[in-house]
Formats: sequence, structure tokens, C-alpha cells
Amino acid sequence: MDLPRKPTQAHVSAAVILLALVSLATVDGRKPCPNSNCEEFPAINCRKYSAVLTEFGAVGDGVTSNTHAFRQAIEHLKPLAAAGGAQLFVPAGKWLTGSFNLTSHFTLFLHKDAQILASQDESEWPLVAILPSYGRGRDAPGGRFSSLIYGTNLTDVVITGNNGTIDGQGSYWWDKFHKNELNVTRPYLIEIMYSDQIQISNLTLVNSPSWFVHPIYSSNVIIQGLTILAPIDSPNTDGIDPDSCTNTRIEDCFIVSGDDCIAVKSGWDQYGIRFGMPTEHLLIRRLTCISPDSAGIALG
Ligand SMILES: *[C@@H]1O[C@H](CO)[C@@H](O)[C@H](O)[C@H]1NC(C)=O
Ligand SMILES: *[C@@H]1O[C@H](CO)[C@@H](O)[C@H](O)[C@H]1NC(C)=O
Ligand SMILES: *[C@@H]1O[C@H](CO)[C@@H](O)[C@H](O)[C@H]1NC(C)=O
Ligand SMILES: *[C@@H]1O[C@H](CO)[C@@H](O)[C@H](O)[C@H]1NC(C)=O
Ligand SMILES: *[C@@H]1O[C@H](CO)[C@@H](O)[C@H](O)[C@H]1NC(C)=O
Repeated sequence: MDLPRKPTQAHVSAAVILLALVSLATVDGRKPCPNSNCEEFPAINCRKYSAVLTEFGAVGDGVTSNTHAFRQAIEHLKPLAAAGGAQLFVPAGKWLTGSFNLTSHFTLFLHKDAQILASQDESEWPLVAILPSYGRGRDAPGGRFSSLIYGTNLTDVVITGNNGTIDGQGSYWWDKFHKNELNVTRPYLIEIMYSDQIQISNLTLVNSPSWFVHPIYSSNVIIQGLTILAPIDSPNTDGIDPDSCTNTRIEDCFIVSGDDCIAVKSGWDQYGIRFGMPTEHLLIRRLTCISPDSAGIALG
């Protein structure tokens, strides 16, 4: 949220919230695994193919741009979607990259010591269309940058790892925001649109340029075991924003941020009303939230 409706509080409030908005028996729409030992992590264990980011020329030194490597890797794995799906493994290291797109029947898996670092070079961030339920960009009426990890019109996508890190290196964007220099809306860290069967789990996400996790116009979304960290004075760093989604489960997340920890949305004001796609069947449980000036869970 970035509307001027924030309560002011003198102290950091830590709230442990146990809330079931709508309790669902199951929101896991994934198909059953063929073998019985992969129940805990069906999608990952069931991918037929896998590849390692370094096979595509990536260098994990924190300096070399790996945008091309990520895009090439996923382009290469995309045709395997219909043949059993694929996993891209990101090994230990610091992998600097601009925005890249996911594909269907796909797992992005981060080693526990892998850090994906978002590029601060705007040429590595393509522009994408304005969201129809937002009518304009949130930072500026012009275009908007694609999120660091972006997916649209997908089925069965998993972004996970043994608590590996995705770092948005947001200070570049926060400075532009504070100096009023944004003519294009800032990127989010992860945005998935028009998709079904999404799982984002067991990761640490830090310093997003703006919102962290934004599933929109999607269904059967599981968000689990995320640690989300941003300075409490960073602008618009909402943790998780389920937006016009059906069947979403958010659990076991720890969020420290400069804005709402979770903001449940259905577009933006009159644009959202006109678009008319509500968020339905949402379960939020075991959320720990520290956000002194914003909400633990906001509606709208
Ligand atoms: C990702 O997909 C969107 C929508 O199809 C497209 O506009 C954008 O250019 C793609 N980004 C990359 C890096 O290919
Ligand atoms: C994605 O799905 C939406 C909604 O069904 C549709 O309007 C849009 O054209 C699709 N985009 C692509 C790139 O297939
Ligand atoms: C993941 O890493 C974060 C940041 O280091 C840490 O706070 C959190 O406890 C870790 N989570 C798990 C499940 O190990
Ligand atoms: C934003 O500003 C930059 C330079 O200030 C310019 O190159 C770019 O074309 C502008 N983008 C839009 C969408 O107006
Ligand atoms: C996440 O990690 C926990 C504990 O480390 C593990 O039990 C669980 O299966 C993992 N879940 C997912 C969905 O990755």
C-alpha cells in the first residue's frame, strides 16, 4: 500500500497473527507424484530434467551480470515443460542479474548459500504492460518495470530453495523514489500473473525495490516459509500482496518491512472495481510481522 492511511505508532510492534480468513481443506492443486517418496516436495522431486545455472555461463562473483545466463537457461528448459518439466539449480555464489521470465512446469531452486542479486542497471529491466486492474503505474503514470522474477500465463511453477536469498538491492530505487525521480514504476521482486499452481517457499527475500511477492490474477498459490526483510523505513516494501487471486495459502512467514506485511488486494480503487476480480479463498496462518507504521494484514 502507499495510500496515506497509515496509523502512526511510536514503537515497533511485533505481532504474531494467527488468522484464517477462509479456511480451505486444501489449496494444493498439484497433481499427485508418481512415486510415494516425493509427497513433501512434489513438484521438485517430480521434475524430469534439471540444469545448473553455471552450464549457461553464469559467474557467481556478485559483479558479472548473469541476466543472459538466466534467460538462456530458462529458454533452454522451456521446451521440456510438456516432457516432465525442469528444474534450474542456482548453486552457492552471488549471482547478479536483471529481470528474467519463468516458464511452466518449472522449478527455480536456490542452494542455501546462493544469493540472487538484482541488477541496478535499468537497461536490464524490460518494461511490461500496466496491470489492467491498476489503470496506471503506482509510482508514475508511465510504464512499469518487469519484476526481477516474472511469470505470466503459466501453470505449475515453484520458486524455492534451502533458504537461499534473493536480494533486490532496493536502495537504488528507494533513492529515486525519495528524490521524486521515478518516471517508470519500480519493479517488484517476484510477480506471477494469470497463472495456476504456484509455490514460493523456503527462501529469504531482502530489500525489494517495492513490493516483494505479488501473485495476481492467479489461482492455487502456496507461499510458505519465507523470511522477508527490508528496512522499516523503506518505501512501499509490502511483503506479500495476493491480488485478484483464488485459493491462496500463506503460512510460516516472517516479515520485517517498511509497509504492510501482507496486503490483500483486488486491484486499485476505481480500476480494480471496474476490472472486477476479487481475491477469494485466502488462508493466512503463522505470520510474524514487524512493521511499525503499517499493517500486519491490510485489506485493500
Ligand atoms: C517477459 O515476458 C513479458 C510478457 O510476455 C515480456 O513483455 C518481457 O519482455 C519478457 N521479459 C524478458 C526478459 O524476456
Ligand atoms: C494471458 O492470459 C490473459 C487472461 O487469460 C490473456 O488476456 C492474455 O492475452 C494472456 N497473455 C499471453 C501472453 O498469453
Ligand atoms: C533463513 O534465513 C534467515 C536469514 O538469515 C533466517 O533469519 C531464518 O531463520 C532462516 N530460516 C530457516 C528456516 O532456516
Ligand atoms: C524515463 O526517464 C528516462 C531518463 O530520465 C528516459 O530515458 C525514459 O525514456 C523515460 N521513460 C519513460 C517511460 O518516460
Ligand atoms: C521447507 O523447509 C522445511 C524445513 O526446513 C521442510 O520441512 C519443508 O518440507 C520445506 N517445504 C517446502 C515447501 O519447501
